[in-house]
Amino acid sequence: MKAIRLHRSGGPESLICEEAPIPKPRDGQVLIQVHAAAVTPTEFAWYPTFHTPEGNARPFPIVLGHEFSGVVAAIGGSNRDVRMGDSVYGLNDWFMDGAQAEYCLVAAASVVPKPATVDHARAAVVPISALTAWQALDRAQLSKGQRILIHGGAGGVGSFAVQLARHKKAHVIATASAVNMDFMKRLGADEVIDYRTTPFETVVRDVDVVLDTVGGETRDRSWGVLRKSGRLVTIAADAEGTKQQQVRDAFFIVQSNREQLIEIGRLIDGGVIRPIVGAVFSMDEVRRAYAEKPTRGKNVLRISEGDRHGQ
Ligand SMILES: NC(=O)c1ccc[n+]([C@@H]2O[C@H](COP(=O)([O-])OP(=O)(O)OC[C@H]3O[C@@H](n4cnc5c(N)ncnc54)[C@H](OP(=O)(O)O)[C@@H]3O)[C@@H](O)[C@H]2O)c1
Repeated sequence: MKAIRLHRSGGPESLICEEAPIPKPRDGQVLIQVHAAAVTPTEFAWYPTFHTPEGNARPFPIVLGHEFSGVVAAIGGSNRDVRMGDSVYGLNDWFMDGAQAEYCLVAAASVVPKPATVDHARAAVVPISALTAWQALDRAQLSKGQRILIHGGAGGVGSFAVQLARHKKAHVIATASAVNMDFMKRLGADEVIDYRTTPFETVVRDVDVVLDTVGGETRDRSWGVLRKSGRLVTIAADAEGTKQQQVRDAFFIVQSNREQLIEIGRLIDGGVIRPIVGAVFSMDEVRRAYAEKPTRGKNVLRISEGDRHGQ
């Protein structure tokens, strides 16, 4: 099969598109023929990208991209939840090879029917970002009528968080760049702040929830806009290693969740939320897919021509 692989640690310049063996599913695993896989630039800095769960160095070559949309090509052992040829999407284990290849392995329990109303490229940007947004709003216990400030509203996670918060009938305030002001409104934000020209703390106060996808001084300045007993949730990577207990407590890492991903697919098919794709690249354009930051949403690699027909 064709696969994009890393033979040494580094950045996108180290990615090589080459021939590789098709992996074989073990009991409880499914082999996916990948049609599209999303691009997550921060993956080069993730611990599991270059380590095993036991803390050793992961052997090269390594395949990135842990969210996919595709078709079930083989099933390891017996499994009643998936059938050969099913169109599915999902995310696979951070410590395993990812989906930027014509085939990838995934735990059968993490495979979910793909939403039927979107093509594989749109489906591929859903699993990590939508599950993160879903789990963040759950942790924040966001409920109807509450006010939420979402930093980075046009980003991969932010674009789902805005739509899901709106769906929960919360009052949504989003920060974004000027180019995305109208886009944020169309997605369901009640108020939008251009973070480059307006310090958010000068126009926002007493919110019930802050969802921080940015980190650093944006998060530092966010505590002050919470109402008494308001909640801040952060997903920004710099929260993981900090010594500040308050920040550590506010941080979480997304987990695969079959039921939530099924529900997210239903919301997509129901027209309640829509996945936002930045740009679509071929496998040979992978370095550009990482280098060219999308204006909104996430970039995608088209792995198979089948994607053009959305099947
Ligand atoms: N903990 C977890 O489980 C988890 C899961 C998913 C992602 N993450 C992390 O969460 C972060 C966001 O992920 P993502 O996929 O949503 O990234 P993304 O698509 O790059 O989105 C980030 C957004 O933040 C905006 N932004 C940048 N600086 C800002 C500022 N100072 N104030 C307000 N907005 C600002 C950017 O807008 P402009 O481009 O217009 O500047 C962009 O739209 C990344 O660091 C990612 O690694 C963590």
